[in-house]
Amino acid sequence: MIENTLVLIKPDAFDKKYTGRILTCYEENGLKIKALKLLKMTPELAAKHYAEHIGKDFYDELVGFMTSAPLVAMVLTGENAIAKVRALNGATNPEKAAAGTIRKEYAQSVQHNAVHASDGLESAAREIHIFFNETEIFD
Ligand code: CMP
Repeated sequence: MIENTLVLIKPDAFDKKYTGRILTCYEENGLKIKALKLLKMTPELAAKHYAEHIGKDFYDELVGFMTSAPLVAMVLTGENAIAKVRALNGATNPEKAAAGTIRKEYAQSVQHNAVHASDGLESAAREIHIFFNETEIFD
C-alpha cells in the first residue's frame, strides 16, 4: 500500500549537517519527498506532536531538546513507507540500532536520536497535519 509518513530530522542531526545524507538514504530506498521545511518547534507544537508522552519522566527534556534549534520536517511517500522509514531509521535507542541504520550512523543517545518517524497510519495522518497544510503537500 502506498503510505505517507511524517519524518523529522531532529536538531542534533540537522546541526551536524547530516540532512543531505539522511535524505539520500530515504530517496535511494524508494521514498519520495512530498513536503519539506525547516522550522523551530515551539512548546505548543511539541505538545501536539508528542501528546502521548506528556507526563512521562523524559517529556520536559524531550521538549527542551526539540525546541532548542531548527529541525527539518518532511512528508515521505512510497510503498509501505511507514514501516520502511522506521526500518531505515533503526531502533529508538541508537545503542540498539542495527548496523547501517540512520540512528546507528548519526545518533548519540535515546533523546538525541537524529530522526523521528510516524509509527502507524493514524499517527502519520495526525502528525502530517501538525506540520503541513494541504497547500504545502505535493503529489
Ligand atoms: P521519537 O521517535 O521522536 O518519539 C519520542 C521520543 O522520545 C523518542 O524518539 C526519543 O527521542 C525520546 N525518548 C523516548 N524514550 C526516552 C527516554 N527513556 N529518555 C529520553 N528520551 C526518550
